[in-house]
Order: sequence, then C-alpha cells, then structure tokens
Amino acid sequence: MIVNPKDKINGEITVSGDKSISHRAVMLGSIAEGITEVTGFLMGADCLSTIECFRQLGIPIEVNEEKVIVHGKGLLGLSQPSNMLDVGNSGTTIRLMTGILSAQSFSSDITGDASIQKRPMLRVVAPLREMGAKIDGKEGGKYCPLHIEGQGLKGIHYQLPVASAQVKSAILLASLYAEGETTVIEPAPSRNHTEIMVNYFGGNILQKDNVIKSSPVKKLTGQYIKVPGDISSAAYFIVAALILPHSELLIKNVGVNPTRDGIITVFKQMGGNIELINQRTQCGEPVADILVRSSSLHGIEIGGSLIPKLIDEIPVIAAAACYARGTTIIKDAQELKVKESNRIQTMVSELKKMGASIRETDDGMIIEGGSALRGAQVESYHDHRVAMSLAIAALKAEKETTINNSDCVSISFPNFFSYLEKL
Ligand code: S3P
Repeated sequence: MIVNPKDKINGEITVSGDKSISHRAVMLGSIAEGITEVTGFLMGADCLSTIECFRQLGIPIEVNEEKVIVHGKGLLGLSQPSNMLDVGNSGTTIRLMTGILSAQSFSSDITGDASIQKRPMLRVVAPLREMGAKIDGKEGGKYCPLHIEGQGLKGIHYQLPVASAQVKSAILLASLYAEGETTVIEPAPSRNHTEIMVNYFGGNILQKDNVIKSSPVKKLTGQYIKVPGDISSAAYFIVAALILPHSELLIKNVGVNPTRDGIITVFKQMGGNIELINQRTQCGEPVADILVRSSSLHGIEIGGSLIPKLIDEIPVIAAAACYARGTTIIKDAQELKVKESNRIQTMVSELKKMGASIRETDDGMIIEGGSALRGAQVESYHDHRVAMSLAIAALKAEKETTINNSDCVSISFPNFFSYLEKL
C-alpha cells in the first residue's frame, strides 16, 4: 500500500466492531442455550477463524451482512471436530478456546499460522493443567499445535504472572465447567469483556479490585449482542486527527470500557484535545462517541498499570510520539515482544527507516519527537497493527511511504485503507 501525506482529516466515521467482544460473542453464544444474534460483529480474519472453529465443533453459525446468528447448543453441546482446529493468526481464539476445549468430553487438536506457532502457550496450558486439564503440545505445551484431552476440571486459586486478558479468560471459561470456585488474581487490570459477557449470558463472575471469582454455571442463555466499535481501531484515526493540523473527527459508537481506555488517558496527558460524548452502556459495555481535534502533543512517560489498558495501541502511540515535542518513554511493555510480531523491534526498526529518533529498551522504547519524518519503504512483518500504525505515521511524513505486506490489516480492520482514503 502506498500512503501519501495529507494536510488534515475531517468528518464523521464509525470503525469496525470490537475484536475481543466479537470473539467472545461467538464463543459464549456457542456454549449457551438457544440463539445468540450479534450485530456490529467484526468480519475480520481473526473473528472469522473463531466462527470456523465453532462450526467444526458442530455449532451452526449463519453469517450475513448485518449479523451473525449462533445456534448455541449449551455447555456440553459441542461435538468432537474431525480435523485439527485452525485459528489462523488469532491468539485470542487459540488461548480462549483451549480453556473451553479442556472441559469437553472429547479430545481435540488446535493450531494456527506460522506466527501463532511461535507465540507462548504455556501461559494458558499451565493454569489449565492445575485445573486438571490434559494438554500436550510442542516442547511440552510451550507452543502449538496443542492436543487437548477433555476432562472434568476443578476450580483453582491462580495468581496471573502477567496481566493478560487471554490467560484470564481461558481460566474463566474453563471455570464455567469446573467443580468449585475459581479465583484469578491479576497483577494489573486487563480487559474484562469475558467477565461482562459471561454475566450477561447468565453466569456468575464477581470482581473486586484485582480479584476475580467465578463459580460453575448450570447453563448460559443465548442473547442479543450489539458489538461497539473497536477502540483499538479507532486509535489509528484518533492519532491521525491529533497530529494533522486543522483536523476535527467524530468517531461514533466506540467501546470505552475503562480496561481499554488507556489511549484516551495518555493522549489527554500529552495535550490531546479529545472528548467523549453521548456516553452510554450497551450489553454491559460502556460506549461513547469520540471527538478529536488536532493538538500540539508533548512527550510523556507511559508505564505501570496503564500498559494493559493500551497494549494494542502502543505501536500507534509510538507513531504519534514521533510528532510530539520532547521525549516519550514507554516502559513495562515487555508483552509487546510476544504479539503478532515483536512490536518493540518492528516499530523501532520501521519508524527509524522514516527518520524517527527512536530506540529499543528492554521493556519498551524511547522516542525523541518533534522532527519531521520522511516517506520510506517499510515492512509490516505481517502484523496488522504495525501496518496501520506506519500508515498513520506516513500521513504526516514528507513524500510517499510504501508499506509492504499491508494486506494483514484484514486481521482486525478489513476496510482500514478505504476509510483512510475516504477521509
Ligand atoms: C485480547 C487480549 C490482549 C490483546 C489481544 C486481544 C483479548 O492480549 O493484545 O489483541 O481479546 O483478550 P493479551 O491478553 O495476551 O495481553
């Protein structure tokens, strides 16, 4: 994809549906009784992989332009797949499904693409084994393919070593089937969409500070789920409007769950003009319209418990920081190394090609902002968030930027480039 510089962006947009909520709607809809109708579903490659996996498990799922209809068969209604389940590029699919599959009365095998096969799985395999799950995999379960022998499980008391919503959710989904209560303690709050949606389907998860308690359920009931726009997708346009002069953009219907809104906090601290309007709750999730105006940003330090609340937005925050006055320090973000690419390495190397003053640290990056970037030939490393973040950096660079392997945006935001073009 070739991206040319732009003077400003103006107008009103909606972004595609929330990826995390879309995955969970299909998963919980499949193990609930009756029909779950999902509107606003993200038709990105990752969420389509989740649909395909549940179809392989015997769940009829209809997909049309307006909605996804899941014909749930109840907690124990899944059937043994005849083939290896394939999650494609989706970490959320493999980690959350491993929790569900561990509790079934059949065995299954699950894997994904080359990137997924390099991503750590022991973080879900270890706690699930403590619950009694029988899971094997490459190098003792460090990596997929995973072989899962479904079992009766028991509740555990588990202190998460990393703030990961995927690990927490795998345990919570398994806990629906387990004997006794499960307690998960988080080092810092991570996205709580699983907790909200399980309760919306009739489950029983309680959260107090960093402690989450879940009790087994007799049944979940199919629901109507309206998925809000994904704040992680809105983030690209938030940054575009902030860094391009004379811009004013209204992004409508975006999920602003406080476990996901770190990007708003950070840009407000950096001097960004951002307003949340029309705040409301939809299917238990906070939603708002986001009004962004061009702003003169300055660098700040970002770390600690804010990191899990903006983990997927760090690549685009790095792009914004290149155009902010002064130094931005991103720390405590080691988790970036185990995403679809090593996002510390990939963002630093590609922004450098555009002339950024940026360097890698052990747990993040340091950016000296304020000097102009120039268009360059850059690489996405097949990582959707790297491709989109570089496209936003390119909007304010001198001359055009070519992004290689940019098709990967279809993972989370299939219309990204056409939206950009339209604005
Ligand atoms: C997700 C959790 C995060 C995030 C990913 C989606 C989820 O991963 O990076 O894009 O839907 O639970 P971790 O839990 O590994 O931090």
